[in-house]
Amino acid sequence: MSDFNIFMEKTIDENKQGETLVIAKNEENTKKLFIESYGCAMNFSDSEIVASILQNEGYNTTQNLEEADLVLVNTCSIRDKAEVTVRKRLEKYNAVKRDINPNMKVGVLGCMAERLKSKFLEEEKIVDLVVGPDAYKDLPNLIAEVEDGHDAINVVLSKEETYGDISPVRLNTNGVTALVSITRGCDNMCTFCVVPFTRGRERSRDPQSIIEEINDLWSKGYKEITLLGQNVDSYLWYGGGMKKDFDKASDLEKATATDFSKLLELCATAQPKMRIRFSTSNPQDMHLEVIKMMAKYDNICNHIHLPVQSGSDRILKAMNRLHTRQEYFTLIDNIKKIIPNCVISHDMITGFPTETEEDHQDTLSLMEYVKYNFGYMFTYSERPGTLAERKFEDDVPEKTKSRRLSEIIALQLKHSEFRTKQFINTTVEVLVEKESKKSNQEWSGRTQQNIVAVFPKGEYKIGDFVNVTVTDCTKATLIGEAIGKSNNN
Ligand code: SAH
Ligand code: F3S
Repeated sequence: MSDFNIFMEKTIDENKQGETLVIAKNEENTKKLFIESYGCAMNFSDSEIVASILQNEGYNTTQNLEEADLVLVNTCSIRDKAEVTVRKRLEKYNAVKRDINPNMKVGVLGCMAERLKSKFLEEEKIVDLVVGPDAYKDLPNLIAEVEDGHDAINVVLSKEETYGDISPVRLNTNGVTALVSITRGCDNMCTFCVVPFTRGRERSRDPQSIIEEINDLWSKGYKEITLLGQNVDSYLWYGGGMKKDFDKASDLEKATATDFSKLLELCATAQPKMRIRFSTSNPQDMHLEVIKMMAKYDNICNHIHLPVQSGSDRILKAMNRLHTRQEYFTLIDNIKKIIPNCVISHDMITGFPTETEEDHQDTLSLMEYVKYNFGYMFTYSERPGTLAERKFEDDVPEKTKSRRLSEIIALQLKHSEFRTKQFINTTVEVLVEKESKKSNQEWSGRTQQNIVAVFPKGEYKIGDFVNVTVTDCTKATLIGEAIGKSNNN
């Protein structure tokens, strides 16, 4: 296995990969939609937007592939493995169509659709519909074309689409936590990354529509939201349009612009009891104002997902990550100074082209400095069309990549255990999300710092904020006893 992640978190929840999504049935709707999602949280959020659009087109969702009129798969291109998984799903749809459900139509959404475009229609005979991440509003027209017997495709990337005006239906929800997207696209051009090519230029969503969505979620009983973007710290609203055009904005637009720290404040004050999370932060774009804002408001959760990708200055440069190892340490030191109990997690890539043993040791020593609570660790996967693919040979042997990855994982496990143990004998506030997988007598939820905690159910219910004294832990999970509801209820 080339990818490894430990400790579930919202950004890439491996347990949710391929999850079929269901929404409340609209009795007037007669057509059946089967929609499943792979990849990042943004894809899961996008699928909610898609389901919301199709709900108005006569579709109810189903979890049964065999009865679906329309099958949509929201795809990921981040690593080769993600694409292989989707190709396998297409084989499965093909078998169902051939043997059981010949009228079923199949559409591919998301990053693979954008990357492969019409090639999909040529390569995969099963596919009737190819739709990129900025074209979901065109789905009704595209589906009409498919129903007329034609293949349909729209992979146009947009300068302004943020789907801010669509109120997403919540799919497979626990009714407690929800995703709220705030930016689309990415302008960073990390050399290994396919996202700037599949999701286009960076745009921010109108803060007003974000706040309205949060207020609406609160009124429906939600207690925690995660603000989503490829690079949330780069959020900038100045009336709409691409981030790169901010220079051309008027003086008034510039003076009244909303950046990420201001947006956090707007969200935190709009619903002072709603837990606010965000993901993902690129170190080069994370500023002190954001950290100070986190410290100012109790309901902004003390967890930062701060991918570093490598501990070597030479590799960081080759990756076009615009900070040094020392600058990263300074950022970590500032976070710890301003928010001493802040949990920090990471993403790491091992085996980037030209990576030497010395670079690898730099990665391990960086991890030793930070002692992350958890992380997502990957071997480098060359992606067609990226700058790294054009510029470098993928020259680190797979065996070396795997060995380095296992060393990185072993170190992370050690640090996770160290960090998790520090919670023993402390009291944490847990937001109850669901029944524990291990026992139906226990609740499972997360602390403010995004660590999973389980405790005996007692009189508590899903959606309660409960104070829990931690008595024990595994490497990733806190085990405790409830001592009462927190005053956040
Ligand atoms: N900013 C994004 C990052 C996108 S991809 C976000 O919101 O999470 C998530 C992680 O996948 C990256 O941080 C990186 O560690 C990993 N990744 C991206 N491209 C990769 C590649 N070509 N090979 C291996 N891992 C990759
Ligand atoms: Fe990819 Fe770097 Fe953006 S990892 S999503 S190009 S911040």
